[in-house]
Amino acid sequence: EKGNFEHFMLKEIHEQPQTIRDSLRGRLNIEQNSITLSGLDSIADKLRDASRIVIVACGTSWHAGLIGEYLIEELCRLNVEVEYASEYRYRNPIVSPNDVILAISQSGETADTLVALENAKQQGATIFGIVNVVGSSIARIAHAGAYTHAGPEIGVASTKAFTAQLAVLQLIALKLAEIRGSISAGLFRTLLRELDDVPAKVEWILENQIEHIKTIARRYEDARDFLYLGRGYNFPIALEGALKLKEISYIHAEGYPAAEMKHGPIALVDEQLPVVFVATKDPYHEKIVSNIQEINARKGKVVAVVTEGDETVTDLAEAVMVVPQAHEIVAPLLSVIPLQLLAYYIGVERGLDVDKPRNLAKSVTVE
Ligand code: F6R
Repeated sequence: EKGNFEHFMLKEIHEQPQTIRDSLRGRLNIEQNSITLSGLDSIADKLRDASRIVIVACGTSWHAGLIGEYLIEELCRLNVEVEYASEYRYRNPIVSPNDVILAISQSGETADTLVALENAKQQGATIFGIVNVVGSSIARIAHAGAYTHAGPEIGVASTKAFTAQLAVLQLIALKLAEIRGSISAGLFRTLLRELDDVPAKVEWILENQIEHIKTIARRYEDARDFLYLGRGYNFPIALEGALKLKEISYIHAEGYPAAEMKHGPIALVDEQLPVVFVATKDPYHEKIVSNIQEINARKGKVVAVVTEGDETVTDLAEAVMVVPQAHEIVAPLLSVIPLQLLAYYIGVERGLDVDKPRNLAKSVTVE
């Protein structure tokens, strides 16, 4: 039930401190400085010898996969490809018994993902499922897996399932890095603590930013288009922010890597266009600040997600949404929260049925 919340989507956004904790529980152990993932242990040999990892998913789960790619590439020094299941299943991909396929799916019933996995399994690949719904078709076809433990997600637009997927991907990347010996003891310890701190930081965002995000939503609810830009780990968050807005508010929105803006989208910028920058403090920060200046120079309306205490962007933006400081590797778990809230409140302001957006189904079991 919705309890005190007006919609399931809002309830599920608010559940995230708990659902992220649930994804980490029994797996992340700070005292022992260790990660336990029994599903991963069962294919540890395959993973140690894997020539590459292929991540297969659709929609929001595909966005989680993009972040998984960056994580595994950086921490495990392993080749990763991320595929839309619908493309992968039809284009005669090269699959070998040395491939490990990570399938990401909230419902575990997405038809394209399921068939892509069946094909890869037939060709000898090892399938690892990152699935929310226990006992679902994708969970059953996988050789091994790790459930996301987000609980039932009723809102059609995925929120808590996404952050749970990110939490599990972080655990997988860290554990695999440990197995492969590709991470320093210092960074391993730091990232375990960073991950452990995420739920409290999500709580902070929910306690301190909502009223402010509501006013931002009122200010931009009539915009016709939005652009979302981010770099590095925040690039997939820009894609996810844009997808949430499209689904919930029916406003056209596009996500792009911030630097790609010059290769086309900048032509759209005028005084009507809100441009949402995911501009948290990370090694690319200076670059994104200069992208923000370029939008300003063309009179676009800049809205930015920034790190608490960082004032660099404040004067360049019409509005900022603040998230707590965090290591860039766990930062996407925080920066997505204001974007979920922004999409939600814009949808509500426009009087839409945010839990059941038109034309969408919770799980796409037909292709
Ligand atoms: C977006 C959304 C969809 C799903 C996609 C994959 O909010 O919900 O894009 O992410 O249909 O669904 P699963 O994860 O169930 O395979």
